[in-house]
Amino acid sequence: MPEKKAFARLPGSVIPSNYNIKLKPNLEAFTFEGDETITVDVKSATNTILINSVEIAIQSATFQAQGSSDISTSEISFNDADEKVTFKFPAPLPVGIGELKIKFTGILNDKMKGFYRSKYTTPDGKEQFAAVTQFEATDARRAFPCWDEPAVKATFDVTLVVPKQKVALSNMPVISSTELDGDLVELKYGTTPIMSTYLLAFIVGDYDYVEGKDQDDVIVRVYTPVGKKEQGLFALEVAIKTLPFYKNYFGIAYPLPKMDLIAIADFSAGAMENWGLVTYRETALLVDPNNTSSHVRQWVALVVGHELAHQWFGNLVTMEWWTHLWLNEGFATWIEYLCVDHCFPEFDIWTQFVNNDLGRALELDALHTSHPIEVPVGHPSEVDEIFDAISYSKGASVIRMLHNYIGDEHFRKGMNLYLTKFKYKNAFTEDLWAALEESSKKPIGQLMSTWTKQMGFPVLQVEEKQDGKSRVVTITQSKFCADGIIPEGDNSQWMVPITICTASSPDKPVSTGVLDSKNLTLTLENVKATDWIKVNSGTVGVYRVQYSSESLERLIPAIKNKSLSPSDRLGLQSDLFALARAGMVSSVDVLKVAEAFINEDNYTVWNDLSSNLSSVALILQYTESYPQFQSFIRNLFRPISQTVGWDKKDGESPLIAMLRDLVLTKLGRNGDESVIKEATKRFEEHFTGSKLLAADLRKSVYISILSDGNEDVFTKMLELYDKADMQEEKVRISRSLGTVRDEGLISKVLDFSLSDKVRSQDSVFVIAGVTGSVKGRQLAWKFVKDNWTKLYDRYRGGFLLARLIKATTEDFISEELAKEIEEFFKANPAPAAERAIKQSCENIRLNARWLDRDGDKLKEWLKSK
Ligand code: BES
Ligand code: ZN
Repeated sequence: MPEKKAFARLPGSVIPSNYNIKLKPNLEAFTFEGDETITVDVKSATNTILINSVEIAIQSATFQAQGSSDISTSEISFNDADEKVTFKFPAPLPVGIGELKIKFTGILNDKMKGFYRSKYTTPDGKEQFAAVTQFEATDARRAFPCWDEPAVKATFDVTLVVPKQKVALSNMPVISSTELDGDLVELKYGTTPIMSTYLLAFIVGDYDYVEGKDQDDVIVRVYTPVGKKEQGLFALEVAIKTLPFYKNYFGIAYPLPKMDLIAIADFSAGAMENWGLVTYRETALLVDPNNTSSHVRQWVALVVGHELAHQWFGNLVTMEWWTHLWLNEGFATWIEYLCVDHCFPEFDIWTQFVNNDLGRALELDALHTSHPIEVPVGHPSEVDEIFDAISYSKGASVIRMLHNYIGDEHFRKGMNLYLTKFKYKNAFTEDLWAALEESSKKPIGQLMSTWTKQMGFPVLQVEEKQDGKSRVVTITQSKFCADGIIPEGDNSQWMVPITICTASSPDKPVSTGVLDSKNLTLTLENVKATDWIKVNSGTVGVYRVQYSSESLERLIPAIKNKSLSPSDRLGLQSDLFALARAGMVSSVDVLKVAEAFINEDNYTVWNDLSSNLSSVALILQYTESYPQFQSFIRNLFRPISQTVGWDKKDGESPLIAMLRDLVLTKLGRNGDESVIKEATKRFEEHFTGSKLLAADLRKSVYISILSDGNEDVFTKMLELYDKADMQEEKVRISRSLGTVRDEGLISKVLDFSLSDKVRSQDSVFVIAGVTGSVKGRQLAWKFVKDNWTKLYDRYRGGFLLARLIKATTEDFISEELAKEIEEFFKANPAPAAERAIKQSCENIRLNARWLDRDGDKLKEWLKSK
């Protein structure tokens, strides 16, 4: 497949081996001065050197071959569109080792990429700026001219010149410190291992830290805002447990002497795995015992687990090109669960994987506008685009399926082979398969390429026949499409690991195999005629399953009496909702199955069911059946809300706290009077300070009162927002604000989102918060259109913009809007969101068809209730 935009990788005629970089940021003028000496190897005689550089002014560039004198450039020319600079020399540079010396200046921008500034307030109320970096994927070139490609690895000697009283960090520890005039200090950091440019980091600002050592004496520090170092203790504990866990799992020690984790006030992603200096959003690192919810605690553990895994998988061994980004992200997303399961079994985190990652992957990958896991990319905007649920969630899901298929022992052995063979180098997807093939002696490359090179996944049709004491099961695969329509000529097939569990063996598969053609017939022995069977035991496989009505009938009691495992209960209803949307089963029948969950007590199962019901709510919002549907929801969620109650019980699991939050939020949002009444009472006590709300209860209370609230409630929420000291609390409030119903208030939320009270990194989610209602959705889209130039500039394209576009467009349900959205982005292109826009429009059309097809039937059924 050709790349979309003309793009060429840097030539290999000159390659770097070491960068000696000195940077002097100016935290008042928001500029920096830089000076670098790059040791290079001239492989073939050339009189030009072509490297990456963006928004950097170059004052001089000279080349010095070993033992010769300097040659100055005869010309420096920039290609802004390609983000490149060419140095031309008067004569060809001699083959061999030389030094390229560059003097340059740049800006500490406010776009959260490259070398940028981040605003914070010190405990004495002073506004200050830190200088920080975010280089992945292609923004190291904004901080210093370089070969900014993952396969061009080099060592780095970093020097920072900074005000004496500031904390200044880079990937390695400081090796020398020299005081200079003007209250400055020059800090030299140790030489890094050979590494990719996107993993380099520099930070200058005011921070406190907590420190510990892991069992191998690696020094671990968690840097927090000044005065808040206790909020780093939880992450410190996770990091200290995690480093040895990975060392043991991979069979390779962490290669650097220190590991810093730092919370950055302005941060576009969730976290970034810079080698030895991992950066986080404050909400992904800081935990305060009184203000942090169980959900955020769990998130912090997952994010730390994810970024520390990259220290091996990504940093030590790096993808050869961004096409293989999924190797980094899919793998880290899978292993973060393994790590959290090890450190915090109480989170039952693998069940949550099925909802968070597998579910997300299947939803996106069923679209005709999805893409294969391995996708050719060139230009930076295309690279930005693939930091999506396919690379992360589908990537992690196929790895989970593979791990289950070959078993932990062979998997670990293969990981060790792969990491050992490619350490300090780069690898392709095939290299990982080869290592796993070597350890498992199974045809991994052949099996896995059906999952990574092909987009989509199959739906398995299951036919069962009882034959005496046996059950004969025939499984047939075909591509699953969200609209139920396989494009003509698409004969996609997958090699599908199959597992089946039964009523007498609900947790352990009684049969395993690989479906490697269209059909497979298996015979299960000793199965009673009344026994249920479930294909995809544990919901580990990356596919949907469709049963006959008789088979499904047998499974319903197993939902009610919970003899099916939580992951299987979850998977079953998730498949049914997807099949209903595709028109392959009746939506009314699926709601009947939803009613079988009345005795459900598992947080994750409820969570998945709840979001599936929301997708039905979405289409019904546009009909007169909506009030009846809301009443259906309230009836379904009421019993469990009474079981969990409002107050935490002694020794309660964090999952119960999360379940309480989920069901109360659902009821409050859907107008349950008793929940709103209790929430209003508790909010008043909280607001006046007579009795503070537990962190775990706040979101559900805020949403309940706002969705029923007037200007007075709204004003009080803004007051709490202003008073809140933790970003977690500000984010909790600002994301809830959009549940207000009044048009005037919705507009206030939208204006608030771009005010200077909300950080750029959070605005997107504040806007997304208003898209839950028909009116809100309309206003949000109008707001995006009206403020397009401002928004585009704020995020410079970028993945936050893609998220914003997706959130504000995908939930419409009419062809007119799909067309309008397409037209708008034709006139106002957003390159890094091109695919997201197509996906939104596909979703809109899917919703429209779903409502057309099933709206009346749903209406009748709801009426009859
Ligand atoms: N490498 C990414 C950070 C990143 C994301 C850089 C997007 C450039 C663009 C990091 O490892 C990551 O995946 N972070 C996640 C959090 C993680 C726990 C899923 C994120 O930022 O969302
Ligand atoms: Zn990652």
